[in-house]
Amino acid sequence: MAASGRELVRTERHLWRFNESLLAGTRDLSMAILVTGGAGYIGSHTVRLLRKLGRPVVVLDSLESGYAPAVGDVPLVVGDIADDGLVASIVAKDNVDAVLHFAGYKAAGESMRQPGR
Ligand SMILES: NC(=O)c1ccc[n+]([C@@H]2O[C@H](COP(=O)([O-])OP(=O)(O)OC[C@H]3O[C@@H](n4cnc5c(N)ncnc54)[C@H](O)[C@@H]3O)[C@@H](O)[C@H]2O)c1
Repeated sequence: MAASGRELVRTERHLWRFNESLLAGTRDLSMAILVTGGAGYIGSHTVRLLRKLGRPVVVLDSLESGYAPAVGDVPLVVGDIADDGLVASIVAKDNVDAVLHFAGYKAAGESMRQPGR
């Protein structure tokens, strides 16, 4: 979990822009944003910022390396992003119309040793 403060500032700036583009559009703002990997480092900060912006959020995370309490009071679905049926059911049930995707592996060394993972 070695994200620098600069990464978080950049993430926050992108999120404000993302939210502004939503507000500028004709979208129904009651619809939810699905955050994959929302129990991880970048994802959980993103969830917190989206909640500050008043956006409905739902998290999909396998908890392979995530931390469930980091999601707070946001609905957390524990599962794999590769499970198409699960993703489709979340999108339908939670009225999702946007996805922020942070689920993944991040260790550079591991990506060299196991590139197919
Ligand atoms: N941390 C950083 O400094 C940084 C900087 C730039 C980009 N990124 C990228 O952002 C993404 C998230 O990074 P992070 O630091 O938050 O990592 P993290 O390991 O803290 O979070 C990743 C989350 O994804 C979940 N996850 C992994 N595979 C999954 C799957 N198949 N289905 C559902 N959930 C799954 C994990 O359980 C974990 O909660 C990665 O792609 C990383 O490369 C991170």
